[in-house]
Amino acid sequence: MSPRYAHVTGWGMAVPEKIITNQDLAKMVDTTDEWIVDRTGIRQRHVADEHQTTASLAVEAALRALIVASLRPSDLDLIIVSTSSPEHIFPATACLVQDRIGATKAGAFDLSAACTGFVYALTLASQAIKSGAIQNALVIGAETLSRLTDWKDRNTCILFGDGAGAFILQASEEPGGVLTSVMRSDGSGGDLLSLPAGGSRHPTTLQTVYDGLHYIQMNGREVFRFATRVMSQATREAVDAAQLTLADVQLIVPHQANQRIIEAAMRGLDIPMDRVMMNLERYGNTSTASIPIATCEAINQGRLKPGDNVVFVAFGAGLTWGSNLVKWSGPFPVRRKVSPRRFRWLARLRSWLARLRRHLEGLIWGRDRSI
Ligand code: COA
Repeated sequence: MSPRYAHVTGWGMAVPEKIITNQDLAKMVDTTDEWIVDRTGIRQRHVADEHQTTASLAVEAALRALIVASLRPSDLDLIIVSTSSPEHIFPATACLVQDRIGATKAGAFDLSAACTGFVYALTLASQAIKSGAIQNALVIGAETLSRLTDWKDRNTCILFGDGAGAFILQASEEPGGVLTSVMRSDGSGGDLLSLPAGGSRHPTTLQTVYDGLHYIQMNGREVFRFATRVMSQATREAVDAAQLTLADVQLIVPHQANQRIIEAAMRGLDIPMDRVMMNLERYGNTSTASIPIATCEAINQGRLKPGDNVVFVAFGAGLTWGSNLVKWSGPFPVRRKVSPRRFRWLARLRSWLARLRRHLEGLIWGRDRSI
């Protein structure tokens, strides 16, 4: 088999309309706009309204990415949703997305690697394409961390925001796409950033809720130290693995956690900030969604073009960290126009018919058993 490459041919993002500014937060907890901007670089974050969920944001981002790639949902072989705020423990949010967009031929699963999740998901999807196992993949990073945030805890509530971003990956024999990937972890630091309750270790009880264990817990100072170290290390590793130098990289899209972390990491690499995509000022830390959201904005601003080498680099709970070096492609030549409204309508109809069929089969099966 001739070598196969996994190209990024579509992208899309979705953020809720509702915005919470630092001034709004200063009315809720003991903080100031000046403190938050100074320590993090964040000025505002988007927060889901009561009707929006991780899946609904993921679906919006996915449909936009499909349009850019001119692909139908039924062309997809695989959907990975990276998230730390899934709709449920199970079923996977990826399966909800599969149903709502009508990706009738796709396998679907969630990936839990916190803020590094999008980098991990891109790695797995690109490897599945390169191996010849699949042709087209949809990779989504989606979060509604506002639902897991204690809005009375000034250590954490200033940081996070909601949103989703999606990439389409497609196979081609043309060199390019996701060239190298780095995936690392260190579980000994798991307690530095965690959501302790609601799983099998601490099932939800009145006591866990009373103790606030269903909210994000964080040791900010330790996470900060870890992050500055691994961000530069992972960037260098992905570039070295591709046998390139940092001078060959046109743009770095780092996980948007904290401006000081990113600046320190880039200083360590001698990379000027004009080669680094930043937008956390307007979105806060959207966890695994931050890299695809920042990438969409970089493309819109003309900062990422076909042929460019771009590094995605992230760190997060776990602890996890990782990076990808991608030769940016853009969409394959357009073959057809695709209509997102039709996809959604057809998917809803198909889902309704499948539920009806299951219901009728259940009735018939019940009657047969009573015979
Ligand atoms: N407003 C005002 N003061 C605050 C505050 C807030 N929102 N949050 C904490 N403080 C106070 C602290 O209580 C502390 O006061 P003290 O000295 O009287 O005890 C002081 O500010 C300094 O706290 P510290 O935690 O050392 O601040 P910091 O400079 O490390 O900044 C973070 C705190 C959280 C912004 C920073 O540590 C950080 O960004 N860490 C990484 C977190 C992260 O990225 N998490 C997501 C990973 S994907």
